[in-house]
Amino acid sequence: MRSLQCVPCILRMVWMRPDRMTDITQASNAAALDPRSLAAANVRLEELWSCGTEFLGSRYAILGGAMSWVSERHLVSAISNAGGFGVIACGSMMPDQLAAEIAATQALTDQPFGVNLITMHPALDDLIRVCLEAKVGHIVLAGGLPPGGAVRAVKDGGAKLICFAPALVLAKRLVRSGADALVIEGAEAGGHIGPVSLTVLAQEILPHLRDVPVFVAGGLGRGEAILSYLEMGASGAQLGTRFAATRESIAHDNFKRAFYRANARDALPSVQLDERFPVIPVRGLINEGTRQFMRHQLETRDRFLSGELTRDQAQLEIEHFWAGALRRAVIDGDVEHGSVMAGQSVGMVTGEQAIPEVIAELVEQAVSAIALRSL
Ligand SMILES: Cc1cc2nc3c(=O)[nH]c(=O)nc-3n(C[C@H](O)[C@H](O)[C@H](O)COP(=O)(O)O)c2cc1C
Repeated sequence: MRSLQCVPCILRMVWMRPDRMTDITQASNAAALDPRSLAAANVRLEELWSCGTEFLGSRYAILGGAMSWVSERHLVSAISNAGGFGVIACGSMMPDQLAAEIAATQALTDQPFGVNLITMHPALDDLIRVCLEAKVGHIVLAGGLPPGGAVRAVKDGGAKLICFAPALVLAKRLVRSGADALVIEGAEAGGHIGPVSLTVLAQEILPHLRDVPVFVAGGLGRGEAILSYLEMGASGAQLGTRFAATRESIAHDNFKRAFYRANARDALPSVQLDERFPVIPVRGLINEGTRQFMRHQLETRDRFLSGELTRDQAQLEIEHFWAGALRRAVIDGDVEHGSVMAGQSVGMVTGEQAIPEVIAELVEQAVSAIALRSL
């Protein structure tokens, strides 16, 4: 009854003030104050992502997307301990390093977590074996369509396989070839990206793919947005940027501060200057490094045109420009010349938060948005 009396003033707050976004949040909080609607909303959220929580074995269907150099034992265990699902980024680690990282993570959490392997890693088979020997339950194969042998090794070893699907036709093919779950990552995301936004990928894929859990990623910073994708048929969400600069993250303070200062418009994809020399787009904060990359591409193209470099040599020169650049930014703190990978959701990272706080906030926003509807 009390909540019913609030309707006119909540509507006034939502529609009559200029700063609607803040007011919707206030209205949501008002709804969340009603314990009965809050409890019902919690149940509804649990229903909506039950496929995801069942698949992951976590309390919430929120994955901490693997981030090279960032997603190590501390971040991953903190995400899993807070009810999410942490994922170790293997990146360029060799099998013995990965084994040590998994063991260290297992020492910090008894909750499930996964490992993300890049398919073009030269030791992919050994890395899969390391995961299976350590009884890792979920393996993510990223960076291109996984080779058949890798898919079989994961499945035969008893782990669940998660793959990235950049389009509906590939999503269906991945499921046919054995993927147990998919991540659809929009171009809003931080790191290596495809060309299509999550808004469009979700419409293309979610209504047509109900056989396996599908997790959405890219540009997600609030629980209301996650909720909207759950209602379209997603089983959960994967976030990277919101976790990268948390208290538990080992990233350098300079890297974290760059996140707190940045707006969505500062997180741009790398630009390719010549169609003969492809550049895989990477979304990150623009800095001196990104400006130097433009000059480097022009100079390399000129060296190719003058006959100094073959086409292959020029391509390699361009690809090598960013070698080690993410480590330079994340670990060494060189945010001017390193690669500060970040998604457009970086604008929603405004200060240091602990991981349990971030996860609780996302869940509360989703629950409040549901509770508001029952008023
Ligand atoms: C700093 C950084 C490093 C990343 N490294 C990887 C990686 O090594 N492998 C991978 O599959 N995805 C990587 N990603 C993508 C994340 O796993 C995740 O899918 C993405 O961050 C989700 O979008 P969001 O940043 O908008 O939350 C990275 C993202 C960031 C921000």
